[in-house]
Amino acid sequence: HTQLRGDQVIVVSNREPYLHQLEDGKVVVRRPASGLVTAVEPVMRACSGTWIAHGSGTADRQAVDKHDRVPLPPGQHDYLLRRLWLTGEQEQGYYYGFANEGLWPLCHVAHVRPVFREADWQHYRDVNQLFADAVVAEARSEDPIVLVQDYHFALLPAMVRKRLPRATILTFWHIPWPNPESFGICPWRTEILEGMLGSTILGFHTRYHCKNFIETVDRYMEARIEHEHSTITFGGEQTLVESYPISIEWPAEEETKRWPTPAQSRAEVYARLGIPPDHHLAVGVDRFDYTKGILERLNAVERMLEKHPEWRERFTFVQVAAPSRGALDEYRSFQERIHRATERINARFGREGAPVIRLLAQHHEHDEVNKLYRAADVCLVTSLHDGMNLVCKEFVAARDDERGVLVLSRFAGAAREMPEALVVNPYHVEETADALHQALTMPAAEQRERMASLRSTVREFNVYRWAGRMLSDAARLRLRQRVSERV
Ligand code: G6P
Repeated sequence: HTQLRGDQVIVVSNREPYLHQLEDGKVVVRRPASGLVTAVEPVMRACSGTWIAHGSGTADRQAVDKHDRVPLPPGQHDYLLRRLWLTGEQEQGYYYGFANEGLWPLCHVAHVRPVFREADWQHYRDVNQLFADAVVAEARSEDPIVLVQDYHFALLPAMVRKRLPRATILTFWHIPWPNPESFGICPWRTEILEGMLGSTILGFHTRYHCKNFIETVDRYMEARIEHEHSTITFGGEQTLVESYPISIEWPAEEETKRWPTPAQSRAEVYARLGIPPDHHLAVGVDRFDYTKGILERLNAVERMLEKHPEWRERFTFVQVAAPSRGALDEYRSFQERIHRATERINARFGREGAPVIRLLAQHHEHDEVNKLYRAADVCLVTSLHDGMNLVCKEFVAARDDERGVLVLSRFAGAAREMPEALVVNPYHVEETADALHQALTMPAAEQRERMASLRSTVREFNVYRWAGRMLSDAARLRLRQRVSERV
């Protein structure tokens, strides 16, 4: 971004963009399954700078010196990754505990009760301080641009603001923000809000989440809210609350040229999974998470087969479920429920050697997932609640043949930008089953029309647009600050 040329950019996130894993005595580099990483990594490649994240790979400590900076992406060296190391207790309290048992269900409101423990909260505070100290240590000037990512770091903006009052702090909340009543059950709601209001700009995916946030502040704090400008003034500092719908990097032509054709992709996927050649294929790709509506999706597949017997023995559903947060009971019991539902439906409608549902609960690299997208007739995204959801955008980007149908939950932020999908309420099994049937029987011309329109939206509103809008708002506010300091 030209207005920011020369300014230092520091990103803070919990999840690192690459992890070094020790597998069979060898170090392999993996890309984690994370919408945040999918979106932020290309932006970092474009603007360089330093990315501070939690070192989580099993080989990280061996692979790099503790204090070293790792140049990334491997072989390309566009930016530096600085890993911070947490103790087992810190990871338990801050990441698994407060972030993922507290804030994650609190903000998603997906009928999993948030758990708040005093000890987790203390670790959350400590780790936020640790990362804030690292930001300050990395800063080469008194006014760096700090991009804070997600619910792991609600307290960090105010901590950085205290030490670097002139920093431009852009915080992006990648998950939904609930209404004030829902958020109000958090015992540390005021501390969290105060922490976030250390930001210069606070970004959410949708206007609706901004509105919820502003109402939450209005309900629980003494702050001045200017609705017209969407700003909140607290403790003499102003925060702009704005929506920036996140997206993906639109694949470059050189890349798409290397992709196997849809026909090749289909042949490979069918052969690898042993899917009978006359089957139609629907896919789902998610982290194995209870917010993704995987059970509702399976129920819809079952209902579709009940209502439309002509699809029995002519239809396969492949669900990729990337392992996620498996140390938490809630996640493990969710996994078990999904395995049981899969078995039940397969026993009912599958044949020997040709199950209806293929549950692939392993890590998949992007190329594999891309092949699946290109092989599929239908992609099912049925999140019960999702900030944005990038799987639907990746599916659309993969379909340069303008074929395939997207079934999309109305409770994903993406539904607002992608009305050409078949938009469903995933809690309504009947409606989702009907949409699946409609998708499977949609004429090619209609598929093409919808897909072409979806593709032009995602191509234009790509992740550089997301980052560009945020950074140009930042540049404007920096200029304003400089001018006002001069008078
Ligand atoms: C969501 C969150 C991200 C997170 C990702 C993967 O997309 O918003 O912050 O990185 O899930 O979850 P994990 O806990 O594995 O990082």
